[in-house]
Amino acid sequence: MPYLVTGAAGFIGFHTCKSLLDRGDRVVGVDVVNDYYDPSLKEARLRLLSEYPNFTFYRSDIADRVEVEKMAAHHPDITRIVHLAAQPGVRYSLQNPYAYTHSNITGQIVMLEMARNLKLCEHFVYASSSSVYGSNTKLPFSVEDRVDHPISLYAATKKSCELMAHCYSHLFQIPTTGLRFFTVYGPWGRPDMSAFLFVKAILDGKPIKVFNNGDMRRDFTYVADIVKGIIAVVDRHPSGSGVPYQIYNIGNHRSESLMRFIGVIEESLGMKANIIFEPIQPGDVKETFADIDLLRKDFGFEPSTSIEEGVPKFVHWYREFYGK
Ligand SMILES: NC(=O)c1ccc[n+]([C@@H]2O[C@H](COP(=O)([O-])OP(=O)(O)OC[C@H]3O[C@@H](n4cnc5c(N)ncnc54)[C@H](O)[C@@H]3O)[C@@H](O)[C@H]2O)c1
Repeated sequence: MPYLVTGAAGFIGFHTCKSLLDRGDRVVGVDVVNDYYDPSLKEARLRLLSEYPNFTFYRSDIADRVEVEKMAAHHPDITRIVHLAAQPGVRYSLQNPYAYTHSNITGQIVMLEMARNLKLCEHFVYASSSSVYGSNTKLPFSVEDRVDHPISLYAATKKSCELMAHCYSHLFQIPTTGLRFFTVYGPWGRPDMSAFLFVKAILDGKPIKVFNNGDMRRDFTYVADIVKGIIAVVDRHPSGSGVPYQIYNIGNHRSESLMRFIGVIEESLGMKANIIFEPIQPGDVKETFADIDLLRKDFGFEPSTSIEEGVPKFVHWYREFYGK
């Protein structure tokens, strides 16, 4: 029985597909391969996945219900969906809001409809984000906390995904689980995120921009820990009676100072960063910190990668991939 992974050419989707394929599962991947960031990185990830005979790929838009219905008709035996395709990025949501309504809102509805129509679908797992916590000040962020005040359109679309999932779980008894990811980094990472931006700039001899004068903290989570969590969750149904719906945080459960993160990058590169301090950007939050107790309790989830271990692995991949 195959897994469907959307956003298969993306950072987390690629790693999720690869882990499932490595353990012998069949995977149907879908991705529109858009140019929000360098598509050649997405193509390189896809080349690696296409080496697995168990991998089938659709270059399709998940917000296009006709395309998705056609794909579903070819794979009526899909039992589990990992829905990761989305328009990510907090800052870009101020520039191109319609990319977010298209991929994150319409895309979520189309995928939930797919889950509803697939006779054998047992679990729909989808990506939410730590950004739903907005400027909450109670730390660590718990799934019990109220998240009614998003401060970016990106966050608002992710909260909407959770609401739509609840609705489908309630109405149609579709088991759904939303995973709120906390700042994911690692090999094959996203070019718009801090780890990538910093390493690239330092190696190119360019300055790095650090916001809020460096007074920021993030729960940086290594991609292998995230994927371990995704796969543990998708393989089981949401527990408990009533509506088969659940939300979990997936983070490293350590709130690291941004300046310490930059320090670890500098140590890994053996180079110093030229830092330009700038004010906090609209939509950005000052601190994130994941309470992962629920994921620990239900799945025994334990992130095991510190930034001291994970950052050098990212730097190693970056240097090798880009020949620097
Ligand atoms: N990386 C993080 O730190 C982080 C944090 C919180 C939440 N998330 C969420 O996790 C998921 C995966 O993120 P990522 O970091 O791998 O991002 P990514 O941009 O690398 O991957 C997303 C993929 O989705 C594809 N996509 C976008 N719109 C599509 C559409 N309409 N149809 C088909 N494909 C489409 C893109 O081409 C891309 O390859 C996203 O939902 C994101 O919002 C990521």
